[in-house]
Amino acid sequence: MNPAEQKRVVVMTGGTAGLGAHATQYIAAQPGARVIIGARGSRTVPHGAEVLPLDLASLDSVRCFADAVTRQIGDARIDILVLNAAAQHRSGTQSADRFEATFAVNHLAHYLLAHLLLPRMAEGARLVFTTSDTHDPAVLPPLIRRMAPQALEPRQLADPTAGSFRAYPASKLCNILTARAFAELDEVRARHIRVIAYNPGLTLGTKLGRTDSDRQRPANKPNPFVLALLGLVSRFNDLFYPGTPERAGEALAELALGTVPVPTGRIYASLVKGELTFPDPSKLARNDEARDTLWRESAAMVGIDLREQEDRVN
Ligand SMILES: NC(=O)c1ccc[n+]([C@@H]2O[C@H](COP(=O)([O-])OP(=O)(O)OC[C@H]3O[C@@H](n4cnc5c(N)ncnc54)[C@H](OP(=O)(O)O)[C@@H]3O)[C@@H](O)[C@H]2O)c1
Repeated sequence: MNPAEQKRVVVMTGGTAGLGAHATQYIAAQPGARVIIGARGSRTVPHGAEVLPLDLASLDSVRCFADAVTRQIGDARIDILVLNAAAQHRSGTQSADRFEATFAVNHLAHYLLAHLLLPRMAEGARLVFTTSDTHDPAVLPPLIRRMAPQALEPRQLADPTAGSFRAYPASKLCNILTARAFAELDEVRARHIRVIAYNPGLTLGTKLGRTDSDRQRPANKPNPFVLALLGLVSRFNDLFYPGTPERAGEALAELALGTVPVPTGRIYASLVKGELTFPDPSKLARNDEARDTLWRESAAMVGIDLREQEDRVN
């Protein structure tokens, strides 16, 4: 194929619902974009996107998806990898590999997928993880502050018998620490791959928090009373601003496509009242020991030999 005809290859998780579906629509509408979405079962995907099977609750499925993407794109490279999918499973739910399900889907599966697809990414590619401001105790109001992680213990997070209401915010902390770890890799630096951790902020009208059996029902329209209340409260605390999936998806697409510049040295992009900002993530998300512990322990959990990866680069 003539280089001028080459398409920009975008691979994405979580493109079937919520803000990810809006991001997919936006990206797929760009001239020359080829969008491949990993999705469960018979999900409909936005017009113009291709779909390959992926269940993030199974590490085998993640490996099959990575192989299928590699086959599907042939000699082409991945220009954009968006790891947006997430779930909030009930306490005690296990993944196919017997890890706590929220940690497994939101963190372990994306950690593995990014490792497997990294060698197929293009020079100057973009790697985006969707995280959440609920990872940061400093920004949460006192009443709900205790849900945010104050310490990181990967083995405890992986243990389904120890699952708690903290599993989701802790998994989102893992997304930022993983983004930071990828950004530090020699391979990523040498190939000028840009890594971003994106917080869409409170986004109403998505399916987050639904059980798997209840996900086929369309998303609910936000209740006008709740919208008005949040509008009022958000005058005092930005965290409660009732964002829309349309704007949150558009901002994700802008970051992924690189149409919004990310300041040098910043990795955390946070949507605040509809505007992209680039603050520091939580103190724990900036902690190098936590980053390195999570990196090593996650590799052991998903069966990646980090020495092999280093040898590949050197
Ligand atoms: N909504 C908010 O207030 C908010 C706030 C901060 C951060 N976020 C983050 O924003 C991102 C998108 O969330 P959303 O609110 O748009 O949620 P959503 O409507 O529930 O969409 C979640 C997406 O993840 C996919 N997914 C979940 N489990 C999966 C699995 N096992 N295998 C494959 N795909 C799976 C879903 O696919 P199916 O169609 O198969 O279910 C769907 O495409 C998440 O990373 C979330 O943590 C959301």
